[in-house]
Amino acid sequence: MSAHWKSFLWAQLQKNIQKQGLSSCYMALALATPSVRTVVFRSFAGEHHRDSLGWTSDALVVTTDRRSRKCKELQHDRRYEVCWYMDGTGEQFRLKGSVAIYPPPQQDSSSSSMMPSVNPSNIAPTSPSQQSLGTQAFMAYRQSHGIDPHVFDWEAERRRHFGLLDDALRATFASSQPKPAALPITAVDPLTGWYVSPDHQAALDDAYTNFVILVMTVKEMDYVSLEGAHEIYTV
Ligand SMILES: Cc1cc2nc3c(=O)[nH]c(=O)nc-3n(C[C@H](O)[C@H](O)[C@H](O)COP(=O)(O)O)c2cc1C
Repeated sequence: MSAHWKSFLWAQLQKNIQKQGLSSCYMALALATPSVRTVVFRSFAGEHHRDSLGWTSDALVVTTDRRSRKCKELQHDRRYEVCWYMDGTGEQFRLKGSVAIYPPPQQDSSSSSMMPSVNPSNIAPTSPSQQSLGTQAFMAYRQSHGIDPHVFDWEAERRRHFGLLDDALRATFASSQPKPAALPITAVDPLTGWYVSPDHQAALDDAYTNFVILVMTVKEMDYVSLEGAHEIYTV
């Protein structure tokens, strides 16, 4: 069963997306240095706003580049604070907790054990013909690698988020200079669970080596509305 803070945050986000669009997913993410930047809330780990993957969690996912300053900062201090203003309903959510990087940086072997739990949900997965490319890759990777059906797999989750990026944003992860303008994906190979990009396969494979997900566990949510409501949710 979802935590109370999460159900409330999720319900308010849906209202804001309906009123204001996807800009409602922009959050300000501060790390411990202090340092702050805008990032996009992608989903809760193992969840998708349309597809059901058969998993549920209370951990937020943000995508980023392993070469970014925030990844360097996180190696020294995993704490974060998010300040998330949703203009549609005039509400502010401040979340605090810790961040795990997946895959963990090579010098940091301890962090794979710090990944939050993701649990089977009681909603059946979306049928294959209706799945987004990201969901197809998530499912195909699990199947082709013989992942235990009771175990959540973070590599499948990372692949899913890579496939969900738009083609131009995916291209920003390339190492080559100049970067390609776009890295389109046409299909998922069911034998490997990896993406097919007939004209850009090498660049796509390379871009993925720089792609990481930040998985954010929540310890506290401080909620304030312009109408004067204030509540603190502790986990
Ligand atoms: C609207 C908006 C959304 C953004 N979303 C992300 C994001 O989801 N992930 C990300 O790494 N950077 C995102 N950025 C860029 C970051 O704000 C930041 O400039 C970049 O990640 C480098 O930050 P760093 O040097 O602190 O690592 C976004 C920028 C804008 C303007």
